[in-house]
Amino acid sequence: MFTRRAAILAAAFGLSIGAAQAQTYPTRPVTMVIPFAAGGPTDVVGRIIADQMSRSLGQTVVVENVVGASGQTASLRVSRADPDGYSFLIGHTGTHAAAVALNPKLRYDPLQDFTPVGLVNTNPILVVSRKDLPSTDLKSLVAYLKEQGSKVTNAHAGIGSVSHTTCLLFNSIIGVKPTEVPYRGTGPAMNDIMGGQVDYLCDQIVGVAPQAQAGTIKAYAVAQKERAPSLPDTPTTAEAGLPEYQVQVWNAMFLPKNTPQPIVDKLNAALVDALNHPNTKTRFAELGADVPEKSLSTPAGLQGFVKAEIDRWTPVIKKAGVTMGQ
Ligand code: MLT
Repeated sequence: MFTRRAAILAAAFGLSIGAAQAQTYPTRPVTMVIPFAAGGPTDVVGRIIADQMSRSLGQTVVVENVVGASGQTASLRVSRADPDGYSFLIGHTGTHAAAVALNPKLRYDPLQDFTPVGLVNTNPILVVSRKDLPSTDLKSLVAYLKEQGSKVTNAHAGIGSVSHTTCLLFNSIIGVKPTEVPYRGTGPAMNDIMGGQVDYLCDQIVGVAPQAQAGTIKAYAVAQKERAPSLPDTPTTAEAGLPEYQVQVWNAMFLPKNTPQPIVDKLNAALVDALNHPNTKTRFAELGADVPEKSLSTPAGLQGFVKAEIDRWTPVIKKAGVTMGQ
């Protein structure tokens, strides 16, 4: 709490209340808002760094899952939160890039309404299915999807989510139109893939690597040039015969706009500490997440990156002819 006495002291030293608050930040727990359900990739990555950030900040980073509208409910909430550093968002390729083209009524501007903190991770998409789907590799999966048409179900985390846009791309490359089944995150979607209720999913590798490693789902191909060290037996899409399907996606940290610079600097330092910590490196490696280049884990680096990502995804979405509300 910022007391009257502290305000007088701040005034005496020529600091505004905001600046003085920023000097002592954080004095209470900080909330990390995850825009999807627990157990999905954004939640998994967020919780790994939340642990380490709590140590650096000397205050608990509390994870809150705020689901709805493919991550846009949580993003809007954080964009309108007090810019005091006590609430920040883990946004991603969907909420802060694809959403711009997908939702003409998007109620926040990813570039204007947030203070960027830094990129958290990048990771490729992995194409997976329920274990008893009768296909053994990517070629036979594609043949099966084509043969079954709309009888096949494609799980995703809602229109504009990463799992939706990246599978749109996959489906358009291979020329299939499955029945889409939206969830509140790919955590619950994965439960239904494992339970055999839905057929296939394109998800961030961090969300599905443990199940692929355990053999409770089938993993067909990783959509990047190199194999993922976390799944050395899973071919790349090029090796599996679909070289044009390459997709890297990301998660990143955002504060509300107008957050005082000392707070941004403290959160960024805590993020960088977390990314450099051996526990984070080990967990990221086990799951297949990549620690971003240092220049992108800075506020300015992230702002430029988000702009480039909006430019990258807009033509993809326009070409696919999808908008929210369809
Ligand atoms: C999640 O954490 O559930 C995913 O990031 C959602 C998505 O596919 O965008």
